[in-house]
Amino acid sequence: MMYEAQRALASPVRNPRMATVIGRLLGAAFLVCFGTGLYSHFLQEPQDWMRFATRPEYLYQVTQGTHIIAGIACFPLLLAKLYIVFPDLFAYPPLQGFVHFLERASIALFVGASLVQITIGLLNTYQWYPWPFPFRQVHFALGWVLIGLLVIHIGVKLPIIARYWSKSSGSGDDSGDDDHLVDAVSADRASHAEAVRLSGASRPGGVTGRVLDYIDATPQVTSRVSRRGFLTTVGVATTAVVGLTAGQTFTPLNAVNLFAPRKKGVGQQGVPVNRTSEQAKVADAAMASSWTLTLAVSGTERSFTRAELLALPQTEVRLPIACVEGWSQMANWRGVRLRDLAEMMNAAPETAFRLISLEQRGSFSKTQMGSEYVRDPLTLVALELNGETLDLEHGYPARMIAPGRPGVLQTKWLSRIEAIS
Ligand code: HEM
Repeated sequence: MMYEAQRALASPVRNPRMATVIGRLLGAAFLVCFGTGLYSHFLQEPQDWMRFATRPEYLYQVTQGTHIIAGIACFPLLLAKLYIVFPDLFAYPPLQGFVHFLERASIALFVGASLVQITIGLLNTYQWYPWPFPFRQVHFALGWVLIGLLVIHIGVKLPIIARYWSKSSGSGDDSGDDDHLVDAVSADRASHAEAVRLSGASRPGGVTGRVLDYIDATPQVTSRVSRRGFLTTVGVATTAVVGLTAGQTFTPLNAVNLFAPRKKGVGQQGVPVNRTSEQAKVADAAMASSWTLTLAVSGTERSFTRAELLALPQTEVRLPIACVEGWSQMANWRGVRLRDLAEMMNAAPETAFRLISLEQRGSFSKTQMGSEYVRDPLTLVALELNGETLDLEHGYPARMIAPGRPGVLQTKWLSRIEAIS
């Protein structure tokens, strides 16, 4: 039965070389996702000793855009990898001892965790959360689990990976691994038998013989998918899913951005909006004539009306809003440099600030800003966007805008900025 299944699933693309080729791409995509994901995580939850680059000012736009692009590429690549190695499910005997059990269990966990990770990541970009757990914490934890499992997987498969790494390799000695069984079944009849004989040499009694009997008694397998056809399909699918979504980050592809949740230029003042004033329940407080922005440093407090802020020296900067969900949009902002306000309050140069929104609830109603951003001349308490008074949906009466920070930390509807002692 197992052999029948393996033989029925045999195909020229189900071989260790193809598993290595697709595995390399998938592994690279996982590593890119992990690295850029960690960067996003620590920007939002920095350790005390951490300082971040504020240049180039579009840095987070690039890292998080890359995270989502590589993450979306994982879908066709993971499906392709599963297509290639699927027949290994029917390897016989299914368990060859404790170590083999551990290897199969780790692969089952790896596949399951990968599918969960990329699925919740994608749904998050559409702000759809059909699960009862907190996305960020689970996605973060799964990232570590996946990288650990990836290292184990590569470690276990290293001899095969090394042998099939380059195109010309892998044609010599075929002994000693299950993958070769699958490869062999799609090869010509004589080499099948030889490869199976070799691969079964280390197995317990009778298995090799039964496989050989089976091969002898069964007609030759004809391939359904050619290697070239398979690689072309994977390449086209990956290019399509990336190409039709990457426009939310990468302006030249904006015209073909058909499936990403956000489009460039769509939204109030030509900038997309994620969290609305209605969701944040801030409209009344934000539009009230009594609104002031309070700065608090070392026990001294000073409040500014919007008119007072507008009367201070204004600076115009060009900075992107770069969302954790991957979309980004460059815009022109005008307002007061935060460092000017900090100097007015006699804040020491190393002072970090806590930014407090009018929003009462929500994970980002209070955020922290390290001194590297406070001192940066591009960091503004923004009062205008793209030449107009800041729209309520973009944080009127005042919002923070700083280089290289995720959108969730560009606090909207500011009410208070206090030094962290
Ligand atoms: C193997 C694949 C992946 C790994 C290892 C990975 C890893 C990570 C990590 C470590 C974070 C930081 C979480 C935190 O801030 O605590 C993150 C954030 C994020 N990832 Fe992934 N990720 C993967 C795939 C994906 C995919 C496929 C998508 C969507 C297409 C995605 C979307 C996101 C989003 C939207 C965030 C920001 C979450 C937030 O801050 O609210 N990820 N990822």
